[in-house]
Amino acid sequence: MPFKHFALLLLTAKLALGQAISVAATQSTGWNSSFELSFEQVKLGNLTSGMATIINTITNFDRSQLANGGAHEDEFYNVQDLPEGDWPTEPGKAIKIQESTDPSPFAIPAKTAMSRIVYSTTNANGFYANGAPSVHRALFYADIVPFALAKAGYAVVAPDYAGLGVDSSWNGSRIPHQYFVRQAGAYDALNALRAAKGSFSERLSSKYVVMGHSQGGAVAWGLAEILSRGDAMFEDVSKDYLGAVIAAPPTDALSFTTAGFLAWVAKDLDHIYPTFKLSDWFTPLGVRRIELLNQIEGSQMVTFAMFSPDEELLQPDWRKTSYAKAFEGLTNPDDVTVPYNTTKTTVEDTCQAYPGDLEFVTVPQGSHFSAISAAQQMWLRWIEGRFDNQPVAKAGCIESQLDSLLSSENYQVLPNSFLQWAGEPQWSYELPTAL
Ligand SMILES: *[C@@H]1O[C@H](CO)[C@@H](O)[C@H](O)[C@H]1NC(C)=O
Ligand SMILES: *[C@@H]1O[C@H](CO)[C@@H](O)[C@H](O)[C@H]1NC(C)=O
Ligand SMILES: *[C@@H]1O[C@H](CO)[C@@H](O)[C@H](O)[C@H]1NC(C)=O
Ligand SMILES: *[C@@H]1O[C@H](CO)[C@@H](O)[C@H](O)[C@H]1NC(C)=O
Repeated sequence: MPFKHFALLLLTAKLALGQAISVAATQSTGWNSSFELSFEQVKLGNLTSGMATIINTITNFDRSQLANGGAHEDEFYNVQDLPEGDWPTEPGKAIKIQESTDPSPFAIPAKTAMSRIVYSTTNANGFYANGAPSVHRALFYADIVPFALAKAGYAVVAPDYAGLGVDSSWNGSRIPHQYFVRQAGAYDALNALRAAKGSFSERLSSKYVVMGHSQGGAVAWGLAEILSRGDAMFEDVSKDYLGAVIAAPPTDALSFTTAGFLAWVAKDLDHIYPTFKLSDWFTPLGVRRIELLNQIEGSQMVTFAMFSPDEELLQPDWRKTSYAKAFEGLTNPDDVTVPYNTTKTTVEDTCQAYPGDLEFVTVPQGSHFSAISAAQQMWLRWIEGRFDNQPVAKAGCIESQLDSLLSSENYQVLPNSFLQWAGEPQWSYELPTAL
């Protein structure tokens, strides 16, 4: 479909009021981190020197993306000095409120602002404290969702799930992150929403739309399930729910059977199944790699660098263990996976079980993240329609497809650049649009 309207973007290369540039430092070699695996850690993981170099490089990059040095250095994430009288007794309460967060260590768009809260949640019951989107300078998803929503004028409540950001409780106990347990994530999201409403009642509308992708897509699915069955626990927030945009929810958790993915699930699985041992799923080498991952609190990319090949790290019959079956039962809504066919089947089943409006949109040639960017105006318009009290344009259970103007080979396939924080004066030459 050709565009009916087009915008003419006129740029200027002329600097009207240039600032004097008196210092210009190279940035690509200047990570704000000098991490290096110790000799003992290289031995523990039985790493080749090539692997160790890769892990060091990625970790130094990752740590340079943390605002204020990350969750372990930023006092905001420390709740251990909370006086005993202030310990929360129910979920959904703000424990700390920072009404106006200093935006300068973050790479959020100009003319946007941030607040932060620490909230209480349940443990119905991944990653580590620094896996929290809120410690990443660009909030991890950057323009893909949070910045797009903020620039469209919405207040965005973006919860870190339990165990991310704050990983030690007020009484000093460790808070595990229940990776992929969508119900646990949904409770966290609803409790965060409650706490945010309680903290900023005069600024936030009561109505809200939910949006989630990937792990968050499964969480948004879980949240929609909880609200649709009228759970008394969430009566206070369910009446203002307007609908959900769910992108690529991988709701068959164990359809991802790479060793790295299973390491995130397994590392805290004993908090759900106390008799579970890492050696039920992992070889002795795999167990040592998880121990190393825990020591350095490695990121997603570090995990991918550390956990291959699968056959050296995974027990051949891990899938036959009772824990694999039990975890699948806990995490799968029905029989959904990200692949199109099974998602379609689950959408059809969901439509039968809960008659209502459900639009299933496919983005041809869209990948896990790029599909969201491609469909941005579509979901922004859908969200606007909900806040404007309009009936959905396409009622009932329908499937649609996002068409493109050109054939697919003309398009950039994947992003190939990243948002880099450049907030020090010696890097100002990199910011011609900051004048
Ligand atoms: C450690 O790695 C070497 C190859 O670099 C391999 O020969 C050896 O079997 C590995 N040891 C263990 C315990 O996996
Ligand atoms: C650099 O890292 C240190 C230590 O993690 C941190 O405290 C500081 O805020 C970081 N500085 C910048 C400019 O990112
Ligand atoms: C610490 O607090 C958590 C969360 O309230 C609770 O589950 C745990 O039992 C407490 N641990 C101790 C030792 O009091
Ligand atoms: C998906 O379904 C179509 C039509 O039924 C079928 O031709 C195709 O092989 C299926 N693809 C997969 C990956 O199962």
